[in-house]
Amino acid sequence: MKAGVPALETRQLVYAVDGKVILKGIDLRVEYGEVVGIMGASGSGKTTLLKCLCGLLKPTSGEVWVEGVNIAPLSERERMPLRLRLGIVFQDAALFDYLTVYENVAFGVERHRKLSREQVRQIVRERLAWVGLEGVEHLYPSQLSGGMRKRVGLARALAMDPHIVLFDEPTSGLDPVNAYQVDRLIVRLNRELNLTAVVVSHDVVSLMRTCSRIVMIEAGQIIAEGTPETIRQLEHPQVRAFLRMASSETLDDVPWLGYNIGQEAQV
Ligand SMILES: Nc1ncnc2c1ncn2[C@@H]1O[C@H](COP(=O)(O)OP(=O)(O)OP(=O)(O)O)[C@@H](O)[C@H]1O
Ligand SMILES: [Mg+2]
Repeated sequence: MKAGVPALETRQLVYAVDGKVILKGIDLRVEYGEVVGIMGASGSGKTTLLKCLCGLLKPTSGEVWVEGVNIAPLSERERMPLRLRLGIVFQDAALFDYLTVYENVAFGVERHRKLSREQVRQIVRERLAWVGLEGVEHLYPSQLSGGMRKRVGLARALAMDPHIVLFDEPTSGLDPVNAYQVDRLIVRLNRELNLTAVVVSHDVVSLMRTCSRIVMIEAGQIIAEGTPETIRQLEHPQVRAFLRMASSETLDDVPWLGYNIGQEAQV
């Protein structure tokens, strides 16, 4: 972490595939300590943006700065060490079905951090405790609920001690109670570990309660950004239409969890 250097930044990021331009010049800046939401309809380019941010996809043009390094011109091999510095929690949790919860969380740590077996054990236990999952180390992903799988995916990302975690649809497929738990967890990790987070989602309620800033993308372009409060009040017709369509809840009644999370003893 260097003073004045953002956690993440894209400059005129373009991504095209098969002659189709998916990201059309994205300028995004994420400061350390922020929880930034990327909101947009299905197919707007959210996952593609996330994949460019973490080096899984190479941009067609433009720059992608991760902790002060432009990863856009780097080869797959050169991007690898930088990718390991970012935590990524995929939409479907992407756990290894043939490994236990313990083995899933230990997987990257054992390969990429030079630690003793006991140190690995400690890290795995601690990260699982952070996400509220104790006593399930021996279970397989198929024996867990969707919410639990998402939290294992998060524990696995946290095991590498990232400063920044990227979440793709952390609440999709979860019932409201589990979704709320995952949201609280994101805010708590931000508050307690100063974790910087980028949350990609079309779940407006979830973004309103977790994010310090929301960026809306439509057809590969940023069309609006601001605090949840600002976004709620924008007169921008596409933003209004999206908020109306995306949620049946009255968004004014959705409090930002950051206000009270410090006072809560446990997730
Ligand atoms: N490898 C690819 N080849 C061709 N088209 C692609 C590829 N990856 C993504 N796209 C297209 O790019 C657009 C954006 O996809 P992306 O997955 O980024 O959207 P999204 O906002 O994450 O959507 P969702 O909310 O459904 O997850 C879509 O139209 C998709 O079909
Ligand atoms: Mg997606």
